[in-house]
Amino acid sequence: MISMQHVKLSFGDVTLLNDISFSIARGERVSLIGPGGSGKSTVLKLLLGLLSPDSGNISLLDTSMCDSSERERQQTLRKVGMAFQQGALFDFMTVGENLTFAMENMTDMSPKEISSRIDSLLAGVKLGRTKNMFPFELSGGMQRRVGIARALATDPVVAIFDEPTAGLDPVTSTIILNMILALSGEGADRAQLVVTSNVEIGIRFADRLLILNEGRIIADGPWRELLLHGSDWVRNFLGVRLIGLDLEYAHGLKLPQQFIDQHW
Ligand SMILES: Nc1ncnc2c1ncn2[C@@H]1O[C@H](COP(=O)(O)OP(=O)(O)OP(=O)(O)O)[C@@H](O)[C@H]1O
Ligand SMILES: [Mg+2]
Repeated sequence: MISMQHVKLSFGDVTLLNDISFSIARGERVSLIGPGGSGKSTVLKLLLGLLSPDSGNISLLDTSMCDSSERERQQTLRKVGMAFQQGALFDFMTVGENLTFAMENMTDMSPKEISSRIDSLLAGVKLGRTKNMFPFELSGGMQRRVGIARALATDPVVAIFDEPTAGLDPVTSTIILNMILALSGEGADRAQLVVTSNVEIGIRFADRLLILNEGRIIADGPWRELLLHGSDWVRNFLGVRLIGLDLEYAHGLKLPQQFIDQHW
């Protein structure tokens, strides 16, 4: 459903992405993690065709995002739901209008279907009372939840969430993560990607991790395996964020026993 092969991108004389290769198949749930500023959001912009790579191939739902027509790309993007890192809600529209706009433009739903879907989505993200409110009347966490509802509003085949919990307290983060899992959980034919610099969120969302560092995907696999057997850098990057968690909580995350024995 998603494929990047040997993608390279520079800004001026700074090479941000050196050689990005990965693919995500139908039905997969994946977390893309990496340090702040490593280029995660840029990878998403390439994937959506908002930026063009210097070289390499990018395909989304069997459409090449590098050399197909604008029309073909737009058709493909109708099947993709994206929650941007910066909410990206329209300030001049209410919450309900923001969701309506997405569905009117990207689906063939009738006004009646749209209206009932808005109610169920807002209830799903615990924002039932906000339909007629403007984004500036909501807290950061609430705006994030509206962004997630909007990404899922069109029932996308590929759903992507960029830093869905950044800057939010742990309780709100957990609520949001559980919402994403619940709302986009069904449907074995869909792909879901969470992008985050928060290791804990990454491993709670998916078994499979892609790790971006220094312009490359330096690891790709089940996180428990990477935590025990990845390169020094990978084990450190993952481990530092997990060592010292409350032991009961660590068991709840199903950290490998070997890792717990080593560090607690
Ligand atoms: N259009 C652009 N022109 C120049 N530099 C850019 C552009 N877009 C991104 N960058 C640079 O690329 C780097 C990576 O940015 P990006 O937003 O992809 O990182 P990130 O991994 O998503 O970071 P964060 O974890 O903070 O969200 C940054 O140094 C940024 O300044
Ligand atoms: Mg980012």
